[in-house]
Amino acid sequence: MKLNEVVPWGRTLEEYKLMFALSDADLNMKILGCGDGPASFNAEMTELGHSVVSIDPLYQFSAEQIKQRVIETYEPVIKQVKQNSSSYIWNNFRDADELGYARLAAMEKFLLDYETGKTAGRYLPLSLPNLELANNQFGLCVCSHLLFLYSEQLSLDFHIASIHELLRISPEVRIFPLLKLDGEISPYIESAIQTFSSQGFDVKIQPVAYEFQKCGNQMLKIMTRVNLL
Ligand SMILES: C[S@@+](CC[C@H](N)C(=O)[O-])C[C@H]1O[C@@H](n2cnc3c(N)ncnc32)[C@H](O)[C@@H]1O
Repeated sequence: MKLNEVVPWGRTLEEYKLMFALSDADLNMKILGCGDGPASFNAEMTELGHSVVSIDPLYQFSAEQIKQRVIETYEPVIKQVKQNSSSYIWNNFRDADELGYARLAAMEKFLLDYETGKTAGRYLPLSLPNLELANNQFGLCVCSHLLFLYSEQLSLDFHIASIHELLRISPEVRIFPLLKLDGEISPYIESAIQTFSSQGFDVKIQPVAYEFQKCGNQMLKIMTRVNLL
């Protein structure tokens, strides 16, 4: 990963709760945040006494390097959001500027926590589809704005291998959104559902109370089936 190709953009714990319909019981599990980037999810959860490990290739860089990149990319990203503002639902944020301030506040929280969290092993510089993590190390894995969103850039094989890897590490994987960057449904959803259903996993699309991309209010939930005797 080259830093000058990265556009850091991070969401908050409140947004993660809505995107993944996280219950109190979910929040108390050991959670893997896949592709968490500069989201404040890990920092906020840790502050509340919960357990989150985030993985992202971005974590090979220092706080100062990530901060510089946030500063460089902020204006162009906000300009793009303004140009495409009709593609989004403006319920939670009044406009692009308010969205930008919320993202900056989240990234600031992340940056303040980052070096401490890295030392504690909460931010690991790992990349899908191969993660050097032990089997069933986590109770839940959440993946926000990476799989399916980048369907034009990442192949179906990459998606299937990545989800397999996440299911090796955690019995339950939740992915949000199911849309691509252009707001169209990812062409990989059907194949992913068929692949994992046919391999004995419980797979379902679940509506959630978060919608920023129009019609982007669903997550994919994939669970290892528990056989009760
Ligand atoms: C759009 S950001 C989403 C950040 C965060 N999940 C959120 O929703 O606020 C996508 C993130 O995926 C990370 N990423 C890209 N390729 C990855 C890979 N192969 N494995 C894990 N993360 C990856 C990027 O570095 C980036 O931080």
